[in-house]
Amino acid sequence: MKALILAAGKGTRLRPLTYTMPKPMVPVMNRPVLFFVIDQAIEGGIKEIGIVVSPDNKETIRDAVMKEYGGGDLSFEFIVQKEPKGLAHAVRTAQPWLGDDDFVMLLGDNLTEIELSEMIKDFYNEKADALILVKEVDDPTRFGVVVLDEEGNVKDLVEKPKVPPSNLAIVGVYLFSPSIHDSILRIKPSWRGEYEITDAIAELVKMGKKVKVVKLDGWWIDTGKKDTVLEANFAVLDAYAEQKIEGEVSEDTRIIGRVIVEEGAVVRSSELRGPAIIGAGTIVENSSIGPFTCIGDDSEIKNSSISYSVFLDKVKVIGVHGVMDSLVGKNATISMQGAPKVKLFIGDDASVEL
Ligand code: TTP
Repeated sequence: MKALILAAGKGTRLRPLTYTMPKPMVPVMNRPVLFFVIDQAIEGGIKEIGIVVSPDNKETIRDAVMKEYGGGDLSFEFIVQKEPKGLAHAVRTAQPWLGDDDFVMLLGDNLTEIELSEMIKDFYNEKADALILVKEVDDPTRFGVVVLDEEGNVKDLVEKPKVPPSNLAIVGVYLFSPSIHDSILRIKPSWRGEYEITDAIAELVKMGKKVKVVKLDGWWIDTGKKDTVLEANFAVLDAYAEQKIEGEVSEDTRIIGRVIVEEGAVVRSSELRGPAIIGAGTIVENSSIGPFTCIGDDSEIKNSSISYSVFLDKVKVIGVHGVMDSLVGKNATISMQGAPKVKLFIGDDASVEL
């Protein structure tokens, strides 16, 4: 079994961050979302991992992945998809690398609380040609939806139905036998011009292949937008953060709950409310950070308070209280001197709520 992780999208909904960074590299808990997805593949016992990248983000993703995971017994292949023409198109592009192997397909920007090893067992026990992860949702009209027959086999798939035939939304974790390649060759682009994986799976059903589902009880977050990155940060901190103080924390600093202060960070006269992370080399003074907040590396936070937020590296926040629900890119400076006034120098596609 191989893993195919898709990371070649445009990330338009996360601009301006995605002007300078591929969407799967946006961090939650100070780690790229993509790394959590790779960890999931590794947890499933998979050693051969293919990552579908775009011509623009290939180098950034390859360098980051090899720095984090290189040198071990895992093998990585970076497969360039020239244009993001759909998930099925990504599989088609990766077909020469996938060959005749079964594979799991994961989206590089989606986090799900699953144990992949369990799903892989189900796939083989069922002898299925496709096993797709689904979740019961309140508003199926926004998702691809599956319809099951009495035996639990998928008999139909509908993309964003106006009148939903079920409440089982397709989550974005799929296991496939090589028969998916035949069905991909039979489909045409959808109304939005993409080769849809839902169409390819529907084609598998038409071909008489066995398509099963696994229901997800835990969380599932598509980190495609600002609010969902914050949601993912919340979920991941909640699930994985453990107290670790490696930096320097002054005696008059109060630490409440699970807080990580990374090496080289210095915290003085402040309150840190977990779960929260202060990145390596960051200085925090007279400030209140957290809960559910991650500050990247080499930043400076003074006389400020920040909660429920994700800040990337090298950010400066001086004299600003009440910062919350914020996602802030690298090298940004936010400062307030004296009475509040608003003076902005902000790039394209920024969004400011005051
Ligand atoms: P999407 O979220 O559908 O697309 P996107 O990344 O282009 O984002 P936006 O809608 O904001 O422009 O893609 C889901 C994942 O699949 C994402 O990690 C990118 C990846 N992907 C590919 O690798 N190839 C493709 O052709 C497409 C459409 C997506």
